[in-house]
Amino acid sequence: MEVKLKKETVVISVGGSLIVPNRINTPFIKSFKKIIEKYVRKGWRFVIISGGGQTARNYQNVAKQFTALSKDDIDWIGINATWLNANFLRIIFDKKSHEKIFTDPTKKISFKEPILIAGGFRPGASTDYVAVLIVKKLKAHRLINLTNIDFVYTRDPRKYNNIDPIKDITWKAFQKLLPKKWDPGLHIPFDPVASREAQKIGLEVAVINGRNLKEFERYLDGKKFRGTLIHP
Ligand code: UTP
Repeated sequence: MEVKLKKETVVISVGGSLIVPNRINTPFIKSFKKIIEKYVRKGWRFVIISGGGQTARNYQNVAKQFTALSKDDIDWIGINATWLNANFLRIIFDKKSHEKIFTDPTKKISFKEPILIAGGFRPGASTDYVAVLIVKKLKAHRLINLTNIDFVYTRDPRKYNNIDPIKDITWKAFQKLLPKKWDPGLHIPFDPVASREAQKIGLEVAVINGRNLKEFERYLDGKKFRGTLIHP
């Protein structure tokens, strides 16, 4: 799939499972930082939304052993994990990133540094939804979803063998592959609430494996890339 990227602020949703699949994924963070800084030197601007990863799930799972948690309780634990990862990214991008993480996409987005790091917002969706709301606010049209799979597949690649990669798909068809409602800790390429909003605003989302950041660079450069394009 070939996409021409305009010089607009690039919005990237970085799956928590890339940042903290189990322990902190230092090699990924090093490569990701290097690439972002390379494009920053060329004058690009980025909003990076960080997921919660295994940190979120670890805390959620242990908390469940102590008391009956509401869905909101579980989500709030997850949101705090996204804030930890977001602050971590903000700090390692040092002076290039805005001094505070952004956590309320209903508010005005304003930053003079080249990078703004964002985290979770409120219960009921994942950071994918935050990313869509940010794209909408910026009046941008594209979102990159860095995840830990090469493509969106017809079925969950973690559970089934006989699956086909999807190179491009409309939102309507994509939604048929998703559960209808939100559940904390859902493991899907793009959450249902975020997908509905993305469809509404006619967004294009590129799902790319963050373990192969060459593909991410190819996408930024407007070249053919390996991954899935979800579009109107
Ligand atoms: P993530 O966005 O990391 O979701 O938020 P995820 O599905 O776990 O992402 P991957 O699969 O690792 O990439 C972690 C958890 O934080 C809560 C949800 O419970 C979510 O599962 N959360 C996050 C919210 O409730 N609201 C938000 O805005 C963000």
